[in-house]
Amino acid sequence: MTVGFGIIGAGMIAEMHARSMADLKNAKLIGFYDKNFAAAQKRAEEFGVKAYENFDEFLADPQIRAVTIATPSGMHGSVAIPAARAGKHILCEKPLEITLEKCDEIIRVCDENNVLLSPVFQSRFSKPVQLVRRAMQEGRFGRMVLASAQMRWYRSASYYSGSNWRGTWDLDGGGALMNQAIHMIDLLIHINGAPEEVFAFSGTLTHSIEVEDNLCATVKYRNGSFGTIEVSTSCAPGFPRRLEFSGSCGTVAFGENYITRWDFADSRPEDEIIKKELQHTSDAGGGSSPMNINANGHSSQISDLADAILTGRPLYLDGKEGRRAIELITGIYESARTGKPYFFKRG
Ligand SMILES: NC(=O)c1ccc[n+]([C@@H]2O[C@H](COP(=O)([O-])OP(=O)(O)OC[C@H]3O[C@@H](n4cnc5c(N)ncnc54)[C@H](O)[C@@H]3O)[C@@H](O)[C@H]2O)c1
Repeated sequence: MTVGFGIIGAGMIAEMHARSMADLKNAKLIGFYDKNFAAAQKRAEEFGVKAYENFDEFLADPQIRAVTIATPSGMHGSVAIPAARAGKHILCEKPLEITLEKCDEIIRVCDENNVLLSPVFQSRFSKPVQLVRRAMQEGRFGRMVLASAQMRWYRSASYYSGSNWRGTWDLDGGGALMNQAIHMIDLLIHINGAPEEVFAFSGTLTHSIEVEDNLCATVKYRNGSFGTIEVSTSCAPGFPRRLEFSGSCGTVAFGENYITRWDFADSRPEDEIIKKELQHTSDAGGGSSPMNINANGHSSQISDLADAILTGRPLYLDGKEGRRAIELITGIYESARTGKPYFFKRG
């Protein structure tokens, strides 16, 4: 059994989704809709599928059971909501939306229409992330003390100037933090839990854009640990991202798809296998180019949604999980804007 997918927005990341679907047994690409019909036609030709000129016609196609939302970030809600009302299950590129209010609206409409909502955070499916989370759940870190993320990436002037939405508050919802570092923000929360308080500085240091290209924040988490978040799109030529978690009984550091430190007081035979299998590689991920991301995570998440539709089991991550990163990001922006600490509500 396969689930038919339609892709809304036929730009850069749409290609990654289409390629991933071609390799999956439980998902099948039916076609593309883009408000720029020529873009939809180009991708449709490339993948031998249909291009739709009209959004209503696209939504009315019964072959399409699920849609992938790959429009600019601040336009996710405007297409997700009619798609959910048309009964389509939704795979929505990150960020789910650029404000908490818009995220909540998408979640509510999906619930009301009994459709699944899978917010793309492909890194959650990577092996290092799954191993670190399991170690955390097993208590191997002891008392957590530090959970930090560093992203010293590079994006050229043309990356922003060649787009009508990147680097804008209205459609990108922020800069290095909202667009690029969001995956690391999600992982900090996924592994170490919810934040309690943040304080941040941000600035636009090397690009002619509205939003920040550099930001530093300190975080206090609800479990009592602390951490730093350091993000940039100004650091030529661009370096691999790094996440590091330390507790009283262990420390782990990892990059894109590899682990650089895996040390626990309760060492186990499996630790040596993990270290050997996932040792450091030169994979810089998206550090210097947005296209340099591995397709495995997207394939896993598309397959997860298709399987959940076909079997009725819950998703690996749902809309409420996708909202958590937006909560931390918008709290960080609020602190940078006001020059004061931001305290998160307990919900
Ligand atoms: N998961 C990841 O690692 C990852 C990587 C890159 C981009 N993204 C996300 O994917 C989304 C798209 O990014 P991109 O780089 O592909 O952008 P892009 O500019 O290359 O493509 C966006 C496409 O959407 C179309 N579009 C705009 N408004 C539309 C509307 N209302 N209806 C239909 N089509 C519309 C545009 O014509 C364009 O073809 C963004 O939200 C971005 O954050 C995620």
